Amino acid sequence: MDARVKFDLVAWSGERLERVERALSDWVVADAPAGLGEAMRYAVLDGGKRLRPLLVLAACEAVDGNEEAALRAACAVELIHAYSLVHDDMPCMDNDVLRRGKPTVHVKYGQAQALLAGDALQALAFELLAPDGDAVPQAVQAALCRLLARAAGHAGMAGGQAIDLASVGCTLGESQLREMHRRKTGALLQASVMMGAACGATDAAARAGLAAYGAALGLAFQVVDDILDVTADSETLGKTVGKDAAHDKPTYVSLLGLERSSAFARELLSQALAALACAGLADTRALHALAIMVVDREK
Ligand code: IPE
Ligand code: IPE
Ligand code: MG
Ligand code: MG
Ligand code: MG
Repeated sequence: MDARVKFDLVAWSGERLERVERALSDWVVADAPAGLGEAMRYAVLDGGKRLRPLLVLAACEAVDGNEEAALRAACAVELIHAYSLVHDDMPCMDNDVLRRGKPTVHVKYGQAQALLAGDALQALAFELLAPDGDAVPQAVQAALCRLLARAAGHAGMAGGQAIDLASVGCTLGESQLREMHRRKTGALLQASVMMGAACGATDAAARAGLAAYGAALGLAFQVVDDILDVTADSETLGKTVGKDAAHDKPTYVSLLGLERSSAFARELLSQALAALACAGLADTRALHALAIMVVDREK
């Protein structure tokens, strides 16, 4: 029997999610001044699928990497993601009031505190990647910082968000839309995979396979996010649905329609799994299952 059939993603994730939640709660301390810590904890804890941390841990396990480095990388990437959501929801961007089933950070704490909470979470992410002592070799620390910085900045998330805002009311061609999605969402998901891999030793084939897996999965993720904005309900999703059309944002659904967008997401899943199979790694069951989850998810 195919070993993948027997892989239990829920059980695998459960144990790792506990570790990640505990570490995030320990590292995002509440004692930042003037209520900033409270806003930071509100933004990060108690919600979210934690897909990016799970990808880091799964990739690290696939390369038999350094667990301490991977836990730090898993939390760091989630902090960048949480900060991106806080800013994405602000009135100057998507102007959303609901996130992870709760009022958004700026609704609860005000815009200035939301801005600062995002700033502080971003800084904390990099602090986590560069601990004292020798538990994480300095070359690994540097590689992790480089991967995360590249994915978060102009070449990745922030650049993609700029394209997103500049594209309101525009019709983008498929290649422009793909480029926007690659940056704003795909880059951080791909970086999660590559950061996990950077916690261990990899050859060129493994890195190429994982990079292609991460790219396809990252794009699939945002295609599905576009679909769910149309097909899901706010209660399930924990955020207000229908906002893309209301804001006249170009999405895969506006470009291809629902049916072809779903088919495209499945095609990307096939590409991701094919790339993973070429990576020459011993145990990729968790990465395999996470890719399927990205496309089959309902929230
Ligand atoms: C939502 O990401 C924002 C995008 C990048 C599309 P997720 O769907 O991973 O959000 P959480 O972390 O589960 O809340
Ligand atoms: C946001 O994309 C991606 C980020 C970098 C945060 P969306 O604006 O589509 O994310 P949601 O739908 O609000 O979660
Ligand atoms: Mg947005
Ligand atoms: Mg948004
Ligand atoms: Mg969206």
